Amino acid sequence: MSVENLAKHPIPPGFDKAHVQPADYTRLYEESIRDPEGFWRREGKRLDWIEPYSKVKNTDFTMGKVSIKWFEDGVLNASVNCVDRHLPTRANQTAIIFEPDDPNAPARHITYAELSEKVNRMANVLLSQGVMRGDRVVIYLPMIPEAAYAMLACARIGAIHSIVFAGFSPDALANRINDSGAKLVITADTAPRGGRRTALKSNADAALLHCSDRVRCLVVKHTGDQTTWVDGRDVDVLAMMDQVSPDCPPRPMSAEDPLFILYTSGSTGKPKGVVHTTGGYLAYAAMTHEMVFDYKDGDVFWCTADVGWVTGHSYIVYGPLANGATTLMFEGVPTWPDAGRFWAVCDKHKVNQFYTAPTAIRALMGQGPEWVEKYDLSSLRVLGTVGEPINPEAWNWYDKYVGKGRCPIVDTWWQTETGGHMITSLPGAIEAKPGSATLPFFGVKPVVLDAQTGVPETGNGVEGVLCIADSWPGQMRTVWGDHERFMETYFQQYPGYYFTGDGCRRDEDGYYWITGRVDDVINVSGHRMGTAEVESALVAHPKVAEAAVVGYPHALKGQGIYAYVTLMNDIPASDELRKELETWVRTEIGPIAKPDLIQWAPGLPKTRSGKIMRRILRKIAEDDFGALGDTSTLADPGVVDDLIANRMNRS
Ligand code: WT7
Repeated sequence: MSVENLAKHPIPPGFDKAHVQPADYTRLYEESIRDPEGFWRREGKRLDWIEPYSKVKNTDFTMGKVSIKWFEDGVLNASVNCVDRHLPTRANQTAIIFEPDDPNAPARHITYAELSEKVNRMANVLLSQGVMRGDRVVIYLPMIPEAAYAMLACARIGAIHSIVFAGFSPDALANRINDSGAKLVITADTAPRGGRRTALKSNADAALLHCSDRVRCLVVKHTGDQTTWVDGRDVDVLAMMDQVSPDCPPRPMSAEDPLFILYTSGSTGKPKGVVHTTGGYLAYAAMTHEMVFDYKDGDVFWCTADVGWVTGHSYIVYGPLANGATTLMFEGVPTWPDAGRFWAVCDKHKVNQFYTAPTAIRALMGQGPEWVEKYDLSSLRVLGTVGEPINPEAWNWYDKYVGKGRCPIVDTWWQTETGGHMITSLPGAIEAKPGSATLPFFGVKPVVLDAQTGVPETGNGVEGVLCIADSWPGQMRTVWGDHERFMETYFQQYPGYYFTGDGCRRDEDGYYWITGRVDDVINVSGHRMGTAEVESALVAHPKVAEAAVVGYPHALKGQGIYAYVTLMNDIPASDELRKELETWVRTEIGPIAKPDLIQWAPGLPKTRSGKIMRRILRKIAEDDFGALGDTSTLADPGVVDDLIANRMNRS
């Protein structure tokens, strides 16, 4: 390990009033591990409960009987916690700042009083459409306030929302509607982004052709663009909100009732519906939002993620609103109309905490610091990153040009499955090291296991796979409709532990360094993609006989998608066909799944039993074929020479 890795970055001055001080961290962390019951009994009280809980933790990681329950006899409502309970003290405070794609269009400031009215009205619209407690509602909306209203409206009546990222294709949307058994989809006419418009409603129309004809479609007329309309199925939700009552009594929910399902990619098969429940998830999102960003009353908080990902769920909507914060929702992209947009928005709305992904930082870094220097960023106090390991160059650029050396950077490691931050520095308490997620959050017990033997590595200066030894309140509870798959995916390989799928190193100071996925999941610009998903999209093309997909290092995206494609007999390879396959994958899954490189492969390296040797394909894609390792088990070693000779990623 290089000495540079060991250098801690001192906490900038002015953080001696941060929520967590260095001594608090040690004391509270120790307590949270020694006495999780006592620790979380206290922390659960940050929520308002209709019926208080008496039980705190009831969790079992034993394979075959995995069961996770927190605050199980408590009763609450998430929308009450995010909205109603703030009305006595902050009805006129801004809850959501909406910054539209078009920089010349006015921003909107939605107060808690207005948020309450919108959520109640939307909840009544849902009820009028026959949505009941426990029903699933798919939300296919862009980054507009209605997305937050829809989430909270579902929570209010006990319906389970499942957001599908607006960048996903009709096929991906249809799969999620069908897997969740949703009764209703909420979408918008069109979605402006970076000056262009996505035809969301027509995507939804295309998806609904593959769904039960009982599925209703609520449409937010956001841009007013023309769309097709199916009478009896489509509902103008904004018009209807004006007609219904502004009062909708919140449904008392059990702490363990599902709050939402969010689909995420795994190493095998179709995306899984990650299920989060009400009490534990919300308490964990609220607590991490407050501590990790050192959020204080009156701060303006901006998380640049999309609500279609878990980051948007926990740190645009649930965490900030549970804390009565002002949360910013940005409809646009970092590079339009120019590379200064993020900083223009920070300046305009006097943002205090700014949370983004390394891929965005790298893209903006490439445009030069002058875009940052044009704006007044003196309101910024804490910076955050999430989604993938951040390279030290990007970290240093973020620190120097955005934070001006005065803002702590929190590098937050977590997952869709974990609900909230798991390993992260804390602004006033944990000194950062560029590229390390640093130390575990309260109640989180990371362990580094030897990948082969599954034996925990003790002490520091060790490397292996990252597991978590005990439950925390924000943990996912099951895979929607498939508890068996939940147990097999996360608890089978390393018995007694939650397996994260990530590799990691614990350095001499006990700091954690995430080294990336150890399974067949690739991380493209902080978005998770299963190689199996891209492969099955490719082989669904009539001209494709076989495909193997791996990740490779990509300067901007972190990882790129590298596809080896074997064509059907007599089909000639051509650049047109390459384009055709790219478009095909975009329409099957969405733009984020488009392969960056496609190599024509006359054959794939396979063992005699027919198993594709991905290790070799990864090495070739990484342009590191000097160390291919043992190829003696290959059925036809000649295949490898051809792949090397025609490799696409040459440095
Ligand atoms: C995977 C989870 C929940 C955040 C958004 C992504 C990688 C996430 C970090 C980080 C290094 C990170 C991991 C993880 N990851 N944050 N700070 N440092 N790697 O959620 O789509 O569920 O992906 O993202 O590989 O397993 P996700």
